[in-house]
Amino acid sequence: MLKVLFTTVSRSLISLAGVVLTTISAVLFLSLFAIEEFGTGHHGAYTGIIAFIVIPSIFVLGLVLIPLGIALLRRADRKRLAKGEPAPLAPVIDFNIPRTRFIVAVVAVLSVVNVVIIATGTYKGVETMESTEFCGGACHSVMSPELTTYNRSPHSRVRCTQCHIGPGANWFVKSKLSGSWQLVSVALDLYPRPIPTPVENLRPARETCEQCHLPTRFVGDKLKVITRHAEDEANTAKKTVLMMKVGGVRESGARGVHWHVDPANTVKYRGDKKRLYVSEIELSLGDGGTRSFKNEAGPPTDGGVMVMNEEWRTMDCVDCHNRPTHVYQRPVDELDLALTTGMLDMSLPFIRREGLRVLKTPYASWDLAQAGIKKELGEFYAKNNPDLDAKKVELASDALFAIYKRNVFPTMNITWGTYPSFRDHFDDSGCFRCHVSDMKTPEGKKLSQKCDLCHVTLAEEEEDPEILQMLSGE
Ligand code: HEC
Ligand code: HEC
Ligand code: HEC
Ligand code: HEC
Ligand code: HEC
Repeated sequence: MLKVLFTTVSRSLISLAGVVLTTISAVLFLSLFAIEEFGTGHHGAYTGIIAFIVIPSIFVLGLVLIPLGIALLRRADRKRLAKGEPAPLAPVIDFNIPRTRFIVAVVAVLSVVNVVIIATGTYKGVETMESTEFCGGACHSVMSPELTTYNRSPHSRVRCTQCHIGPGANWFVKSKLSGSWQLVSVALDLYPRPIPTPVENLRPARETCEQCHLPTRFVGDKLKVITRHAEDEANTAKKTVLMMKVGGVRESGARGVHWHVDPANTVKYRGDKKRLYVSEIELSLGDGGTRSFKNEAGPPTDGGVMVMNEEWRTMDCVDCHNRPTHVYQRPVDELDLALTTGMLDMSLPFIRREGLRVLKTPYASWDLAQAGIKKELGEFYAKNNPDLDAKKVELASDALFAIYKRNVFPTMNITWGTYPSFRDHFDDSGCFRCHVSDMKTPEGKKLSQKCDLCHVTLAEEEEDPEILQMLSGE
């Protein structure tokens, strides 16, 4: 019987190729598995992809080819038989022959080994594809902005798939389908730069974010101290103190920021595809009431043509927290933070103003940015403060370039403002997409924009706010 099996397999080139592929990939898989599991050190995304995705795929391909080759051969044989030509004999399995029993046992054992290899391969393959290294590291230059910003964010220990896929087999399959296309588009260099946002088919945030954050748990207020720096010679620090009304429904019955995602209410809206402009809102309240608003001001005309979206969107976490982990900062936020933390030297005259100027200058690449920032800053201080220690200026250039490098990615066409955050109302975006005076009900009632609706402003840009002295007991 072994002989017949061998002759059948060896007569079919396809089956033979299958045997070769299966054998080689099984040996490769077992050795790579041993290296990955028992070896020292971390081998990164590529070993994982090769060991647990590429090789098992080849292995399975080989396994499929063997019976395919046999089946094709059989068909050819049957045709030949029909024409009256002699065909080779089909194998006859006779369990009375000890050798047959032995062969069947060997085949059975090998099949078990195959199943183990496939199962391990699948499990490890899924694990590899779930890993941050795979999502963020494998398509290196494409995902480098996402990975850089992610690594600095509060969610740097949350796996990419926990937000982008979430629990459940349904979304897993969906994401693997779109993921396969993404791999192809990266390989063939077909992807758009920058990667477009919003992510249209992102799973509703309620099913992903709420694995960890419970919307009903948002209560009370949160004190927020924001330190800004003036564009004067001393880069004077100024503090804004806000009491953010973080809760959903507050003790007094008044509503706070997370009211929008209280499970009792639904806020739907539509506007342009990028969600920068909101034209209409529809509200269903917990008590059964409904309300609608229309934006009487048309879409803004300064930032190019806006593409309108006919579909309604149910507001969720991501309509405000659209940057929970890929946090691109504004240059002013980065500069103020760097000055406050000492990463940027406060003693350099006008560094806040000059830093902003050199950061906002467009550069075609990181190398040109590094050289440009150094040159501009060097020239400014050489002219205005010739006595200044050159080392200080050099350190400041380095700090500014570091800021540039984690927010601007010329190879992906990402510059300042490419991915705005909706969590505030800078430049009238974010909350003020809806909370504007032109947003009215049919009866003309406005959506509130009162300055104490979302936060009580306890101090605004003060050098030494009284409220902070009081809180620190001074
Ligand atoms: C805390 C949740 C979270 C995690 C973790 C996360 N993402 Fe995202 N990601 C988002 C949200 C939210 C958006 C933007 C949603 C929108 O505006 O449509 C996004 C957008 C993106 C985009 C589109 C470009 C952009 O910036 O808008 C890419 C690509 C992306 N993520 C890749 C990744 C990769 C790779 C990882 C892991 C290194 C990752 N994400 C981890 C939540 C997350
Ligand atoms: C796997 C758990 C997990 C998931 C999923 C998750 N988060 Fe978080 N999130 C955390 C943890 C933990 C922190 C606290 C991190 C810290 O304090 O350093 C946090 C902090 C935050 C903060 C406060 C920090 C900040 O940026 O101001 C916000 C806002 C937030 N998450 C929003 C989201 C949103 C929106 C999503 C869904 C797109 C999400 N999270 C998904 C675990 C998670
Ligand atoms: C209407 C806009 C909006 C929506 C919708 C929204 N948030 Fe927030 N969220 C905010 C604002 C504003 C803050 C306060 C930010 C700050 O710290 O100044 C905040 C704060 C948070 C914090 C930090 C709370 C703390 O006490 O530090 C977490 C966590 C958070 N949000 C998660 C979520 C999750 C999860 C959802 C969806 C269920 C969600 N948010 C929906 C606007 C929103
Ligand atoms: C997509 C539109 C939209 C966006 C964006 C939006 N809101 Fe709202 N918000 C509404 C609507 C609609 C109401 C309910 C108004 C009503 O009941 O008449 C509301 C109500 C509120 C309330 C309760 C007000 C009250 O009268 O009790 C607060 C607080 C609030 N929003 C804060 C925010 C904050 C903070 C942001 C930005 C981080 C924000 N909103 C972004 C649509 C929006
Ligand atoms: C719809 C809600 C909402 C309304 C209305 C609102 N704000 Fe805000 N405001 C916010 C949120 C959210 C932030 C961001 C807080 C943070 O930094 O996390 C903010 C931040 C600020 C800041 C700090 C800016 C900084 O330097 O970072 C100032 C100042 C401010 N608001 C002033 C005002 C004034 C003045 C008004 C009245 C015209 C107003 N706000 C109305 C939600 C609101």
